[in-house]
Amino acid sequence: MTTNGSRTTVLTNIGTLVTNDPTLGEGKLGVRHDAAIVFDDGVVAWVGDSADAPAADIGQDIGGRALLPGFVESHSHLVFGGERAEEFAARMAGEKYAAGGIRNTIEATRSATDEQLQANVRRLLDESLRSGSTTVECKTGYGQNTESELRSALIAGQFTDEVTLLAAHVPPPEYAGRADDYVAMACDEMIPACAPHAKWIDVFCERGAFNREQAHAVLSAGVAAGLIPRVHGNQLGEGPGVQLAVEMGAASVDHVTYVTAEDIDALAQSSTVATLLPGADFSTRNKYPDARALLDAGVTVALGADCNPGTCYTTSLPFCIAIAVRDMHMTPAEAVWAATAGGARALQRTDVGTLSLGTRADAIALDAPSYLHLAYRPGVPLVREVWKNGALAT
Ligand code: NIG
Ligand code: FE
Repeated sequence: MTTNGSRTTVLTNIGTLVTNDPTLGEGKLGVRHDAAIVFDDGVVAWVGDSADAPAADIGQDIGGRALLPGFVESHSHLVFGGERAEEFAARMAGEKYAAGGIRNTIEATRSATDEQLQANVRRLLDESLRSGSTTVECKTGYGQNTESELRSALIAGQFTDEVTLLAAHVPPPEYAGRADDYVAMACDEMIPACAPHAKWIDVFCERGAFNREQAHAVLSAGVAAGLIPRVHGNQLGEGPGVQLAVEMGAASVDHVTYVTAEDIDALAQSSTVATLLPGADFSTRNKYPDARALLDAGVTVALGADCNPGTCYTTSLPFCIAIAVRDMHMTPAEAVWAATAGGARALQRTDVGTLSLGTRADAIALDAPSYLHLAYRPGVPLVREVWKNGALAT
């Protein structure tokens, strides 16, 4: 990675600039054509027509290509040992995903060294950056005891400020059949010990994981320890996750694949973001969430990749955008917004996901003239350059 220090950079001849600031351009994406942008000291200092661009220390002609805010990945599980390719193959041969494989990753994570876990996070973050994600949230959840969750949170914190304590993912083997005892341990011991090293508290509220009461207890203990709630819910079937998230004022409820009309209403009247993770539905051969119904009801929708070794071993938000457009009937503009500004909403961040004055100079240039190509050219690595804090990172 190269850095510019505090030198200014001007990018000119941007064919399509997505700002996500409606005061700077057309529509919700705030689109401008033949645009230029200036980065100064890690933030956006100027946006305007290419013809009016001011001089800067570094100048780059974007050649009529598209420039967008870097993707904001609000959901990933990168601290883990091992992998589960065999489980994926079995699933593709007809087996159903039932979350039981999480225990294999718990075992592999507990027995991995710190260096192995760090190397895994670094490798996946590099991969994410190359596909355009400039902010990445990272969950624990494959430790499921105090020592191992604390280690996971500390390792995640070496790479990102967006650390989520996934305190209750599935009861680990030593608590098999004793989910209530596990929750009591998590609330009394694990959450207080780990909370100083995290920003968010998360729980997998689903049949086979934790029920409503258990999930409520975990989130409440997290809130009492200063964390902000988010929820994994309604991934494998209808259930209480969405309603619980809304009731707790969670920042997001993630998956949201099986929802009732009441769930959609509750989300629409709340500030909780629905984070859709179509890569997980793809790799588990699940149905896709009804993004149209959520959007038409006025729900704020984010897209995440959900990189993890079980349900979705991809870091690529462009891949998720393509699915969201092709199979979830989101428009390309809605999908791009959801993977940038939507992710920022899910992380309660106003400094990323948007390219407007004073926001972080995190941007991606595509090998394409328009953001439409992200869905139009699936599987093609279109992200050519990435700037993070105003510096060229790839
Ligand atoms: O977001 N749903 C729960 N957690 C992960 C999957 C974890 C795994 O299978 O390892 C998810 O899909
Ligand atoms: Fe997840």
